[in-house]
Amino acid sequence: MRCYKPAMTKIDIVVLGGGGREHALCWKLRQSAKVGRLICAPGNAGIAAVAECLPLAITDPAAVAAFARDHGIGLVVVGPEDPLVAGVVDALRAAGIPAFGPTAAAARLEGSKGFTKDLCRAAGIPTAGYRRFGNAADAHHYVAVHPLPVVVKADGLAAGKGVTVAETNEEGLAALADINGPVVIEEALSGPEASLFVLTDGKTISIWPSAQDYKRAFDGDEGPNTGGMGVISPAPALTDELLSRAVAEIIKPTLKAMADAGTPYTGILYAGLMLTATGPKLIEYNVRFGDPECQALMLRLEGDLAEILLACAQGRLHEAAASWSAETAVTIVYAAMGYPKTPITGTVINDIAAAEALGVQVFHAGTVLTPAGTLVAAGGRVLAISALGHDIGEARSLAYAAIRKIRWHGGFYRRDIGK
Ligand code: AMP
Ligand code: GLY
Repeated sequence: MRCYKPAMTKIDIVVLGGGGREHALCWKLRQSAKVGRLICAPGNAGIAAVAECLPLAITDPAAVAAFARDHGIGLVVVGPEDPLVAGVVDALRAAGIPAFGPTAAAARLEGSKGFTKDLCRAAGIPTAGYRRFGNAADAHHYVAVHPLPVVVKADGLAAGKGVTVAETNEEGLAALADINGPVVIEEALSGPEASLFVLTDGKTISIWPSAQDYKRAFDGDEGPNTGGMGVISPAPALTDELLSRAVAEIIKPTLKAMADAGTPYTGILYAGLMLTATGPKLIEYNVRFGDPECQALMLRLEGDLAEILLACAQGRLHEAAASWSAETAVTIVYAAMGYPKTPITGTVINDIAAAEALGVQVFHAGTVLTPAGTLVAAGGRVLAISALGHDIGEARSLAYAAIRKIRWHGGFYRRDIGK
Protein backbone atom coordinates (compact mmCIF):
# COMPACT_ATOMS: atom_id res chain seq x y z
CA MET A 1 0.00 0.00 0.00
CA ARG A 2 1.22 3.44 -0.83
CA CYS A 3 1.18 6.11 1.73
CA TYR A 4 0.58 9.66 0.53
CA LYS A 5 1.75 12.44 2.75
CA PRO A 6 -0.23 15.63 2.19
CA ALA A 7 2.05 18.31 0.71
CA MET A 8 2.99 20.84 3.32
CA THR A 9 1.39 24.17 2.46
CA LYS A 10 3.99 26.86 2.57
CA ILE A 11 3.12 30.49 2.94
CA ASP A 12 4.83 33.54 1.54
CA ILE A 13 5.54 36.19 4.15
CA VAL A 14 6.29 39.90 4.00
CA VAL A 15 8.08 41.59 6.90
CA LEU A 16 7.83 45.39 7.02
CA GLY A 17 10.87 47.31 8.28
CA GLY A 18 14.62 47.31 7.85
CA GLY A 19 16.36 47.33 11.23
CA GLY A 20 17.95 44.85 13.61
CA ARG A 21 14.52 43.80 14.86
CA GLU A 22 13.44 42.87 11.35
CA HIS A 23 16.70 41.03 10.70
CA ALA A 24 16.07 38.93 13.81
CA LEU A 25 12.46 38.26 12.74
CA CYS A 26 13.52 37.27 9.20
CA TRP A 27 16.37 35.10 10.54
CA LYS A 28 13.91 33.19 12.71
CA LEU A 29 11.17 33.01 10.06
CA ARG A 30 13.69 31.58 7.57
CA GLN A 31 14.20 28.60 9.91
CA SER A 32 10.55 27.59 9.54
CA ALA A 33 9.63 24.80 7.12
CA LYS A 34 6.29 26.59 6.67
CA VAL A 35 7.81 29.61 4.95
CA GLY A 36 8.06 29.82 1.17
CA ARG A 37 9.05 33.23 -0.14
CA LEU A 38 10.29 35.63 2.50
CA ILE A 39 10.23 39.30 1.51
CA CYS A 40 11.40 42.22 3.63
CA ALA A 41 10.60 45.83 2.79
CA PRO A 42 12.91 47.66 2.73
CA GLY A 43 15.31 45.28 4.53
CA ASN A 44 19.06 45.90 4.78
CA ALA A 45 22.35 44.27 3.78
CA GLY A 46 22.14 41.63 6.52
CA ILE A 47 18.50 40.80 5.88
CA ALA A 48 19.35 40.27 2.21
CA ALA A 49 21.11 37.04 3.20
CA VAL A 50 17.83 35.46 4.39
CA ALA A 51 15.06 37.37 2.55
CA GLU A 52 14.34 39.21 -0.69
CA CYS A 53 14.65 42.93 0.07
CA LEU A 54 12.59 45.38 -1.92
CA PRO A 55 11.27 48.91 -1.62
CA LEU A 56 7.63 49.46 -0.65
CA ALA A 57 5.79 52.45 0.84
CA ILE A 58 5.31 50.65 4.17
CA THR A 59 3.28 53.42 5.85
CA ASP A 60 0.80 53.48 2.95
CA PRO A 61 -1.92 50.97 3.90
CA ALA A 62 -3.37 50.73 0.38
CA ALA A 63 0.06 50.15 -1.17
CA VAL A 64 0.94 47.40 1.31
CA ALA A 65 -2.44 45.67 0.84
CA ALA A 66 -2.16 45.87 -2.96
CA PHE A 67 1.36 44.41 -2.89
CA ALA A 68 0.29 41.57 -0.60
CA ARG A 69 -2.75 40.77 -2.76
CA ASP A 70 -0.80 40.92 -6.03
CA HIS A 71 1.89 38.56 -4.69
CA GLY A 72 -0.38 36.05 -2.96
CA ILE A 73 1.12 36.82 0.46
CA GLY A 74 -0.13 34.63 3.30
CA LEU A 75 1.09 36.74 6.23
CA VAL A 76 2.36 40.28 6.75
CA VAL A 77 4.45 40.91 9.86
CA VAL A 78 4.75 44.58 10.78
CA GLY A 79 8.01 45.54 12.54
CA PRO A 80 7.88 49.27 13.37
CA GLU A 81 5.09 51.37 14.87
CA ASP A 82 4.48 53.88 12.07
CA PRO A 83 2.73 51.47 9.67
CA LEU A 84 0.59 50.20 12.55
CA VAL A 85 -0.50 53.69 13.58
CA ALA A 86 -1.15 54.47 9.89
CA GLY A 87 -3.61 51.54 9.62
CA VAL A 88 -1.66 48.97 7.58
CA VAL A 89 -3.16 46.06 9.55
CA ASP A 90 -6.69 47.42 9.01
CA ALA A 91 -6.14 47.58 5.24
CA LEU A 92 -4.68 44.06 5.10
CA ARG A 93 -7.50 42.57 7.15
CA ALA A 94 -10.06 44.34 4.94
CA ALA A 95 -8.37 42.63 1.98
CA GLY A 96 -8.56 39.25 3.75
CA ILE A 97 -4.79 38.98 4.29
CA PRO A 98 -3.55 37.78 7.69
CA ALA A 99 -1.55 40.53 9.37
CA PHE A 100 0.47 40.40 12.58
CA GLY A 101 0.03 43.56 14.64
CA PRO A 102 -2.71 45.78 16.05
CA THR A 103 -5.24 47.88 14.14
CA ALA A 104 -4.77 51.66 14.06
CA ALA A 105 -7.32 52.05 16.87
CA ALA A 106 -5.43 49.57 19.07
CA ALA A 107 -2.05 51.06 18.08
CA ARG A 108 -3.07 54.25 19.91
CA LEU A 109 -1.61 52.52 22.98
CA GLU A 110 1.74 53.65 21.54
CA GLY A 111 0.58 56.38 19.15
CA SER A 112 -0.88 58.57 21.89
CA LYS A 113 0.57 58.67 25.39
CA GLY A 114 -2.46 60.70 26.49
CA PHE A 115 -4.83 57.98 25.24
CA THR A 116 -2.95 55.36 27.27
CA LYS A 117 -2.81 57.52 30.40
CA ASP A 118 -6.58 58.13 30.24
CA LEU A 119 -7.18 54.39 29.75
CA CYS A 120 -5.00 53.62 32.79
CA ARG A 121 -6.84 56.15 34.90
CA ALA A 122 -10.26 54.80 33.87
CA ALA A 123 -9.24 51.17 34.49
CA GLY A 124 -7.27 51.81 37.70
CA ILE A 125 -3.98 50.63 36.17
CA PRO A 126 -0.87 51.66 38.17
CA THR A 127 1.09 54.36 36.32
CA ALA A 128 2.65 57.77 37.01
CA GLY A 129 0.27 60.65 37.85
CA TYR A 130 -0.13 62.99 34.86
CA ARG A 131 -1.87 65.87 33.16
CA ARG A 132 -2.53 66.37 29.45
CA PHE A 133 -2.23 69.69 27.63
CA GLY A 134 -3.28 70.60 24.07
CA ASN A 135 0.01 72.41 23.43
CA ALA A 136 3.29 73.39 25.05
CA ALA A 137 2.16 76.94 25.94
CA ASP A 138 -0.74 75.63 28.05
CA ALA A 139 1.65 73.38 30.02
CA HIS A 140 4.14 76.17 30.76
CA HIS A 141 2.94 77.19 34.21
CA TYR A 142 2.36 73.59 35.30
CA VAL A 143 5.92 72.59 34.38
CA ALA A 144 7.40 75.76 35.94
CA VAL A 145 6.04 74.87 39.40
CA HIS A 146 5.89 71.02 39.22
CA PRO A 147 7.74 69.11 41.98
CA LEU A 148 11.03 67.64 40.69
CA PRO A 149 11.94 65.63 38.76
CA VAL A 150 9.24 66.45 36.22
CA VAL A 151 8.69 64.27 33.16
CA VAL A 152 7.84 66.04 29.89
CA LYS A 153 6.52 63.97 26.96
CA ALA A 154 5.33 64.69 23.45
CA ASP A 155 1.94 62.98 23.14
CA GLY A 156 2.51 61.39 19.72
CA LEU A 157 5.13 59.14 18.11
CA ALA A 158 8.61 60.62 18.58
CA ALA A 159 10.92 57.72 17.68
CA GLY A 160 12.07 57.38 21.29
CA LYS A 161 13.11 61.02 21.51
CA GLY A 162 9.99 62.59 22.97
CA VAL A 163 10.68 62.04 26.70
CA THR A 164 12.66 64.23 29.12
CA VAL A 165 13.07 63.46 32.81
CA ALA A 166 13.96 66.99 33.99
CA GLU A 167 15.87 67.58 37.23
CA THR A 168 15.13 71.32 37.20
CA ASN A 169 12.05 73.28 36.19
CA GLU A 170 14.19 75.18 33.65
CA GLU A 171 15.20 71.90 32.00
CA GLY A 172 11.54 70.90 31.90
CA LEU A 173 10.63 74.20 30.24
CA ALA A 174 13.42 73.75 27.69
CA ALA A 175 12.09 70.27 26.82
CA LEU A 176 8.61 71.70 26.52
CA ALA A 177 9.83 74.35 24.09
CA ASP A 178 10.97 71.58 21.73
CA ILE A 179 7.51 70.02 21.48
CA ASN A 180 4.99 70.82 18.79
CA GLY A 181 1.50 69.60 19.53
CA PRO A 182 -0.11 67.93 22.57
CA VAL A 183 1.93 67.27 25.72
CA VAL A 184 1.74 64.92 28.70
CA ILE A 185 3.41 65.95 31.98
CA GLU A 186 4.06 63.20 34.51
CA GLU A 187 5.39 62.71 37.99
CA ALA A 188 8.72 60.84 38.01
CA LEU A 189 8.74 57.20 39.09
CA SER A 190 11.85 55.48 40.36
CA GLY A 191 13.08 51.89 40.48
CA PRO A 192 14.59 49.35 38.11
CA GLU A 193 13.01 49.16 34.66
CA ALA A 194 11.94 46.01 32.84
CA SER A 195 10.17 45.27 29.58
CA LEU A 196 7.38 42.74 29.47
CA PHE A 197 6.17 41.19 26.20
CA VAL A 198 2.76 39.64 25.71
CA LEU A 199 1.42 38.08 22.53
CA THR A 200 -2.35 38.09 22.06
CA ASP A 201 -4.93 37.45 19.37
CA GLY A 202 -7.55 39.30 21.40
CA LYS A 203 -8.58 36.11 23.26
CA THR A 204 -5.53 34.08 24.23
CA ILE A 205 -2.66 35.74 26.08
CA SER A 206 0.85 34.30 25.82
CA ILE A 207 3.48 35.73 28.16
CA TRP A 208 6.85 36.03 26.41
CA PRO A 209 10.23 36.43 28.12
CA SER A 210 11.09 39.77 29.67
CA ALA A 211 14.06 41.95 28.83
CA GLN A 212 16.05 44.80 30.28
CA ASP A 213 17.03 47.57 27.88
CA TYR A 214 20.00 49.93 28.24
CA LYS A 215 18.61 53.19 26.92
CA ARG A 216 21.41 55.68 27.55
CA ALA A 217 24.21 56.05 25.00
CA PHE A 218 27.22 55.61 27.29
CA ASP A 219 28.52 53.36 30.08
CA GLY A 220 27.06 53.84 33.54
CA ASP A 221 23.76 55.09 32.06
CA GLU A 222 25.36 58.38 31.02
CA GLY A 223 24.59 60.44 27.96
CA PRO A 224 21.47 60.93 25.89
CA ASN A 225 18.55 58.52 25.57
CA THR A 226 18.72 56.25 22.53
CA GLY A 227 16.51 53.60 20.95
CA GLY A 228 18.46 51.08 23.06
CA MET A 229 22.19 50.24 23.28
CA GLY A 230 21.84 46.69 24.56
CA VAL A 231 19.55 44.19 26.19
CA ILE A 232 19.56 41.22 28.51
CA SER A 233 16.75 38.67 28.58
CA PRO A 234 15.24 37.74 30.97
CA ALA A 235 15.20 40.98 33.00
CA PRO A 236 16.86 40.10 36.34
CA ALA A 237 14.69 42.54 38.32
CA LEU A 238 11.37 41.11 37.13
CA THR A 239 10.80 38.27 39.57
CA ASP A 240 7.99 35.76 39.01
CA GLU A 241 5.95 37.55 41.65
CA LEU A 242 6.36 40.98 40.03
CA LEU A 243 5.64 39.47 36.62
CA SER A 244 2.36 37.96 37.87
CA ARG A 245 1.40 41.30 39.40
CA ALA A 246 2.20 43.18 36.19
CA VAL A 247 0.08 40.78 34.15
CA ALA A 248 -2.85 40.92 36.61
CA GLU A 249 -2.73 44.65 37.40
CA ILE A 250 -1.53 46.15 34.10
CA ILE A 251 -1.74 43.84 31.07
CA LYS A 252 -5.08 42.11 31.62
CA PRO A 253 -7.04 45.27 32.55
CA THR A 254 -5.56 47.01 29.49
CA LEU A 255 -6.60 44.21 27.14
CA LYS A 256 -10.04 44.13 28.72
CA ALA A 257 -10.47 47.89 28.34
CA MET A 258 -9.43 47.69 24.67
CA ALA A 259 -11.84 44.82 24.00
CA ASP A 260 -14.68 46.55 25.88
CA ALA A 261 -14.13 49.66 23.74
CA GLY A 262 -14.63 47.58 20.59
CA THR A 263 -10.94 47.89 19.65
CA PRO A 264 -9.41 44.58 20.79
CA TYR A 265 -5.62 44.50 20.85
CA THR A 266 -3.84 41.93 18.69
CA GLY A 267 -0.13 41.35 18.13
CA ILE A 268 2.73 41.85 20.54
CA LEU A 269 2.19 44.27 23.40
CA TYR A 270 5.40 45.58 24.92
CA ALA A 271 4.99 47.14 28.36
CA GLY A 272 7.78 49.33 29.72
CA LEU A 273 7.57 48.90 33.50
CA MET A 274 9.05 50.70 36.47
CA LEU A 275 9.41 48.32 39.42
CA THR A 276 8.65 50.82 42.18
CA ALA A 277 8.65 50.27 45.93
CA THR A 278 4.88 49.76 45.77
CA GLY A 279 4.91 47.39 42.79
CA PRO A 280 5.14 47.49 38.99
CA LYS A 281 3.86 50.62 37.27
CA LEU A 282 3.39 51.20 33.56
CA ILE A 283 5.79 53.72 32.01
CA GLU A 284 4.55 53.26 28.48
CA TYR A 285 3.27 50.79 25.93
CA ASN A 286 4.78 49.94 22.58
CA VAL A 287 2.65 48.06 20.06
CA ARG A 288 5.52 46.16 18.42
CA PHE A 289 8.62 44.19 19.29
CA GLY A 290 11.36 46.22 20.93
CA ASP A 291 14.61 46.85 19.11
CA PRO A 292 17.07 45.42 20.27
CA GLU A 293 14.83 43.37 22.62
CA CYS A 294 13.54 41.35 19.68
CA GLN A 295 17.08 40.24 18.77
CA ALA A 296 17.50 38.73 22.25
CA LEU A 297 14.04 37.13 22.22
CA MET A 298 14.52 35.52 18.81
CA LEU A 299 17.72 33.89 20.01
CA ARG A 300 15.81 32.30 22.89
CA LEU A 301 12.72 31.23 20.91
CA GLU A 302 12.64 27.49 20.26
CA GLY A 303 9.22 27.30 18.56
CA ASP A 304 8.28 28.00 14.95
CA LEU A 305 7.91 31.78 14.63
CA ALA A 306 5.92 31.62 11.37
CA GLU A 307 3.43 29.24 12.91
CA ILE A 308 3.04 31.38 16.02
CA LEU A 309 2.64 34.73 14.23
CA LEU A 310 0.20 33.25 11.69
CA ALA A 311 -1.90 31.65 14.43
CA CYS A 312 -1.94 34.99 16.26
CA ALA A 313 -2.98 36.86 13.10
CA GLN A 314 -5.75 34.33 12.45
CA GLY A 315 -7.21 34.43 15.97
CA ARG A 316 -6.11 30.89 16.92
CA LEU A 317 -3.15 31.60 19.15
CA HIS A 318 -4.28 28.81 21.51
CA GLU A 319 -3.05 26.34 18.87
CA ALA A 320 0.54 27.64 18.78
CA ALA A 321 2.68 27.33 21.87
CA ALA A 322 6.05 29.06 22.04
CA SER A 323 8.86 27.42 23.96
CA TRP A 324 11.93 29.20 25.19
CA SER A 325 15.54 28.43 25.89
CA ALA A 326 16.30 28.70 29.61
CA GLU A 327 19.55 30.39 28.65
CA THR A 328 20.18 34.10 29.05
CA ALA A 329 20.56 36.29 25.98
CA VAL A 330 22.76 39.38 25.81
CA THR A 331 22.57 41.76 22.86
CA ILE A 332 25.08 44.58 22.38
CA VAL A 333 24.38 47.34 19.91
CA TYR A 334 27.31 48.57 17.84
CA ALA A 335 26.36 52.14 16.90
CA ALA A 336 27.91 54.68 14.54
CA MET A 337 29.98 57.44 16.16
CA GLY A 338 27.78 60.43 16.76
CA TYR A 339 24.62 58.37 17.46
CA PRO A 340 22.00 59.34 18.58
CA LYS A 341 22.51 62.93 17.41
CA THR A 342 24.35 62.85 14.11
CA PRO A 343 25.68 59.37 13.29
CA ILE A 344 28.58 59.25 10.87
CA THR A 345 27.71 56.89 8.04
CA GLY A 346 29.65 55.39 5.15
CA THR A 347 32.45 53.86 7.26
CA VAL A 348 33.63 50.36 6.30
CA ILE A 349 32.84 47.30 8.46
CA ASN A 350 34.91 44.08 8.27
CA ASP A 351 35.11 40.64 9.90
CA ILE A 352 31.50 40.03 10.91
CA ALA A 353 32.08 36.39 9.92
CA ALA A 354 34.91 36.16 12.45
CA ALA A 355 32.51 37.32 15.17
CA GLU A 356 29.84 34.83 14.12
CA ALA A 357 32.39 32.03 14.07
CA LEU A 358 32.39 32.29 17.88
CA GLY A 359 28.73 31.22 17.93
CA VAL A 360 26.87 34.55 18.13
CA GLN A 361 24.36 36.12 15.77
CA VAL A 362 25.24 39.49 14.30
CA PHE A 363 22.01 41.20 13.29
CA HIS A 364 22.28 44.13 10.92
CA ALA A 365 20.40 47.30 11.79
CA GLY A 366 21.83 49.99 9.52
CA THR A 367 24.12 48.58 6.85
CA VAL A 368 24.37 48.69 3.05
CA LEU A 369 26.55 46.86 0.57
CA THR A 370 28.26 49.18 -1.90
CA PRO A 371 28.26 48.15 -5.59
CA ALA A 372 31.85 47.01 -5.01
CA GLY A 373 30.63 44.62 -2.31
CA THR A 374 31.91 46.55 0.71
CA LEU A 375 29.73 46.62 3.83
CA VAL A 376 29.30 50.16 5.16
CA ALA A 377 27.41 51.79 8.03
CA ALA A 378 24.16 53.41 6.95
CA GLY A 379 22.36 54.33 10.15
CA GLY A 380 22.65 55.20 13.83
CA ARG A 381 22.42 51.72 15.28
CA VAL A 382 24.38 49.57 12.86
CA LEU A 383 24.83 46.04 14.27
CA ALA A 384 23.37 44.05 17.17
CA ILE A 385 25.61 41.25 18.45
CA SER A 386 23.52 38.63 20.25
CA ALA A 387 24.78 35.72 22.35
CA LEU A 388 23.31 33.00 24.55
CA GLY A 389 24.89 31.66 27.73
CA HIS A 390 24.01 29.61 30.80
CA ASP A 391 23.99 32.85 32.77
CA ILE A 392 24.45 36.55 32.12
CA GLY A 393 28.19 36.35 32.67
CA GLU A 394 28.68 33.64 30.06
CA ALA A 395 26.45 35.32 27.48
CA ARG A 396 28.13 38.67 28.10
CA SER A 397 31.66 37.29 27.75
CA LEU A 398 30.77 35.63 24.48
CA ALA A 399 29.03 38.73 23.08
CA TYR A 400 31.99 40.97 23.98
CA ALA A 401 34.55 38.50 22.64
CA ALA A 402 32.62 38.47 19.37
CA ILE A 403 32.20 42.24 19.06
CA ARG A 404 35.95 42.68 19.47
CA LYS A 405 36.48 40.56 16.34
CA ILE A 406 34.63 43.08 14.18
CA ARG A 407 36.93 45.59 12.50
CA TRP A 408 35.09 48.89 12.27
CA HIS A 409 36.64 52.26 13.00
CA GLY A 410 33.41 54.25 12.86
CA GLY A 411 31.53 52.63 15.73
CA PHE A 412 31.16 52.54 19.51
CA TYR A 413 29.39 50.30 22.00
CA ARG A 414 28.69 50.20 25.72
CA ARG A 415 31.06 48.02 27.77
CA ASP A 416 28.63 47.43 30.63
CA ILE A 417 25.69 45.54 29.09
CA GLY A 418 24.74 42.83 31.58
CA LYS A 419 27.15 44.06 34.26
P1 AMP B 1 10.31 56.17 26.45
O1 AMP B 1 11.03 56.92 25.34
O2 AMP B 1 8.87 56.52 26.57
O3 AMP B 1 10.66 54.73 26.44
O4 AMP B 1 10.91 56.70 27.80
C1 AMP B 1 12.27 56.76 27.92
C2 AMP B 1 12.64 56.60 29.35
O5 AMP B 1 12.20 57.74 30.09
C3 AMP B 1 12.03 55.42 30.09
O6 AMP B 1 12.67 54.23 29.83
C4 AMP B 1 12.24 55.87 31.53
O7 AMP B 1 13.59 55.64 31.91
C5 AMP B 1 12.03 57.35 31.44
N1 AMP B 1 10.66 57.71 31.89
C6 AMP B 1 9.55 57.82 31.16
N2 AMP B 1 8.48 58.15 31.95
C7 AMP B 1 8.96 58.23 33.21
C8 AMP B 1 8.38 58.55 34.48
N3 AMP B 1 7.10 58.86 34.62
N4 AMP B 1 9.21 58.53 35.56
C9 AMP B 1 10.52 58.26 35.45
N5 AMP B 1 11.13 57.96 34.29
C10 AMP B 1 10.36 57.95 33.17
N1 GLY C 1 14.39 49.44 22.78
C1 GLY C 1 13.27 50.25 22.98
C2 GLY C 1 12.24 50.22 21.95
O1 GLY C 1 12.25 49.42 21.03
O2 GLY C 1 11.32 51.04 22.04
